[in-house]
Amino acid sequence: MSGDDPDDDPDDEPMTAPTKTPMTRLPPRFPLATLPTPLVPARRLAATGPGRLLVKRDDLVGFAVAGNKARALEYLVGAAIDFGARVLVTGGGPGSNFCAAAAVAARVADLECELVVWGDPGAAPNMRIARAAGARILPTGDDDRDAVDVLVAERAAELSLSGRKAYAVPRGGSTAIGALGFADAARELVAQLAALDDRPSAIVLPVGSGGSCAGLLSGLAEAGCPVPVVGVSVSRPPAAVREHVLALARQCSVLRGAPPPRPAQLELVDARGPGFGSLTPQERERCRTALHTEGFLLDATYGAEAFSVALDLCHDRPGPVVWWHTGGVAAAIDRLGRPEGVPVSTSRPRLEEGHGTP
Ligand SMILES: Cc1ncc(COP(=O)(O)O)c(C=O)c1O
Repeated sequence: MSGDDPDDDPDDEPMTAPTKTPMTRLPPRFPLATLPTPLVPARRLAATGPGRLLVKRDDLVGFAVAGNKARALEYLVGAAIDFGARVLVTGGGPGSNFCAAAAVAARVADLECELVVWGDPGAAPNMRIARAAGARILPTGDDDRDAVDVLVAERAAELSLSGRKAYAVPRGGSTAIGALGFADAARELVAQLAALDDRPSAIVLPVGSGGSCAGLLSGLAEAGCPVPVVGVSVSRPPAAVREHVLALARQCSVLRGAPPPRPAQLELVDARGPGFGSLTPQERERCRTALHTEGFLLDATYGAEAFSVALDLCHDRPGPVVWWHTGGVAAAIDRLGRPEGVPVSTSRPRLEEGHGTP
């Protein structure tokens, strides 16, 4: 199992160390999303046989096509404003949903945005969104993803020294502050389940840089909800993901002054694949069914993988399974335009005119 677009490479999203800055209070939330996002049964899909699936529609988050990342950005932008920043600096790869969402979030918050981007930003849909929002894109000129966070921090320091105070956000926005958004989302889900009088057997979501899963665990512990969380790791070995997500979840709970997350609540599925352009025939068929029955657009990296795992769990476990549709809509549409199984070629990186590597 894997994505079919190098631009969507989740390695773009790092295992960032949780923030070490001690917090005395939560940052203010800068509202971006239209919340709560709906929790809906996939009835037409169920008629095709997989069992009961409840879908948490963060693809309908109502802010650009930011999906799950709108929730993290509400707190990250709030923290940037609180910090007195003029510029939000972050980064990622050409296919980064987070970069696009951060650029639009910064724009509406009256912040400038600079994005350090590895590889060739080119015309990838998420880069087009970022440019349309007025972000300055700084290509690194090579494919070294791990260097991005260092360059982000350096660029923020450079801007601050020059008098434009900058707030640095690591790739994916997966800091303890970013995770606060999904801790809120957990409470949102718990309230929706209570209203439905339903108790799911699992909550399934894709895991890249881990902030969403971490916040979810923190928020579920806070709400006293023991439903297992199944994290679908799309890029890293489950053992490494577990350690990182739980550390981040603990930090998030500390920020909230809430009970710690329960490690036993987290199950991980290894959904790393052999390479790009290689969704299995079954996954492709399931993406097609998701579109043809419910109108769900799934990106190959996150959506298709987590959806497929959720369908398997519907067969294996009693009760409904909650599948978190985290968005990825720009990448999903981009995927539809390509012949199946043909990955986009990885062009050599080039510098964008007027912008050098920071
Ligand atoms: C559409 C989508 N779903 C899921 C994720 C994974 O979220 P996280 O990085 O918080 O693990 C991402 C990360 O960018 C994403 O873009």
